[in-house]
Amino acid sequence: MASGLHDSQVTNPVLRWIDQRLPVVTMIQKEYGVFPTPRNFNYFWNFGALAMINLMIMIATGIFLAMNYTPHTAYAFDSVERIMRDVNFGWLIRYVHMNGASMFFIVVYIHIWRGLYYGSYKAPRELLWMLGVVIFLLMMATAFMGYVLPWGQMSFWGATVITNLFSAIPVVGPTIVTYLWGGFSVDNPTLNRFFSLHYLLPFVIVGVVFLHVAALHITGSNNPLGIEPKGPQDTLPFHPYYTIKDSVGIVVYLAVFAALVFFAPNYLGHPDNYIPANPLVTPAHIVPEWYFLPFYAILRAVPDKLGGVLLMGGAIVVLFFLPWLDTSKVRSLRFRPITRIIFLLWTVNFFVLTWVGAKPAEQPYVLISQICTMFYFAYFLVVLPAMGRFEVAMKLPESISRAVLGAKAGLGGGPIPGAAAAKPMEKA
Ligand code: HEM
Repeated sequence: MASGLHDSQVTNPVLRWIDQRLPVVTMIQKEYGVFPTPRNFNYFWNFGALAMINLMIMIATGIFLAMNYTPHTAYAFDSVERIMRDVNFGWLIRYVHMNGASMFFIVVYIHIWRGLYYGSYKAPRELLWMLGVVIFLLMMATAFMGYVLPWGQMSFWGATVITNLFSAIPVVGPTIVTYLWGGFSVDNPTLNRFFSLHYLLPFVIVGVVFLHVAALHITGSNNPLGIEPKGPQDTLPFHPYYTIKDSVGIVVYLAVFAALVFFAPNYLGHPDNYIPANPLVTPAHIVPEWYFLPFYAILRAVPDKLGGVLLMGGAIVVLFFLPWLDTSKVRSLRFRPITRIIFLLWTVNFFVLTWVGAKPAEQPYVLISQICTMFYFAYFLVVLPAMGRFEVAMKLPESISRAVLGAKAGLGGGPIPGAAAAKPMEKA
């Protein structure tokens, strides 16, 4: 505009004044109001929104915990106990934060699974996917450091085992470990830097999530059919259709979350972490939190330390290359009958890895973890590249509206109810 103000369509005078100078309202209307969204989303498309809510819950509860937590080896454990017993609603805030971490991983694992099944990582959404993998790595680092903070036995010994893995790196490994520790063992400087980073990283995650969603709004969403919308008849405005659908998901998610917090708050934790850290007593089995178990199983599948570390890292790194490893032109596994079955077996395999990661490193568990590790990698490195070439995919539907509405879908039939994308649905 000549005046230098944004040409705002907002009617409320206060919002209009702001919007003319900083068009946030216009932006929200464009990205979350009229944004054309495929009309055939199923409930798997709720999990991005759920992950966002979860991230907000983690940051909010974390800030209140930090007000009462003391990052010192002599006080950390007791300060957490004080939060649980003496701070008003401290028990609730801690249980929400603790179980929130588990909920976050459940939500994000389902979100990733959805991407794998429906081929959401494929062109043109490669960068969106890769930003997701970065988020996943940051989440793992944040969760790992958070678990150290209560300074229980598993905090201390988990931190010792995992930081020691870096010593396997040739030449520079031991130096890296010394820097991580801030000394010559896991101790007060380690706890301090972990606290500092645990507070910082969630905000880095917020930044990457912003890029993730910005990238999504350039390409638009994928959908269960894996075909692009061909016109307004294939989409619906995000509001009210998906704001309502996301709200339904949020209610169910909050109910599950509340059930965990109020009825089984310690179910997913390890009892040893209610014993103060003691560098002189090693627990019988050092196990990470459940969400790390598949990767822990891969680490222990290799008898050599460096080999195990490389393979565990490789299990995530391979995800970055997924858009190029999968050579099929068809996105959704709905239309790839053989790959679909292999992928469902891969999913079972992932659960077996989780199970075996919690078992002691002895036979037959080691053998099982080795077989499962091979399958994990074979899916990405052999099955997907090969199937793209050899598998005969099923016929794709002509369009989203055709698949959803059948003959009514405008092409030969009558008008499509609610097809006027970017406009609220008129009464049928
Ligand atoms: C803090 C964690 C995360 C948040 C808040 C988040 C948020 C979102 C949101 C809001 C959407 C759009 C809604 C939906 O499609 O569900 C989305 C889509 C997507 N996300 Fe994430 N995400 C996170 C982590 C990840 C991770 C770890 C990956 C993969 C490794 C990933 C991959 C994707 C992909 C591929 C899409 C596009 C899906 C499609 O259009 O079919 N995201 N994300």
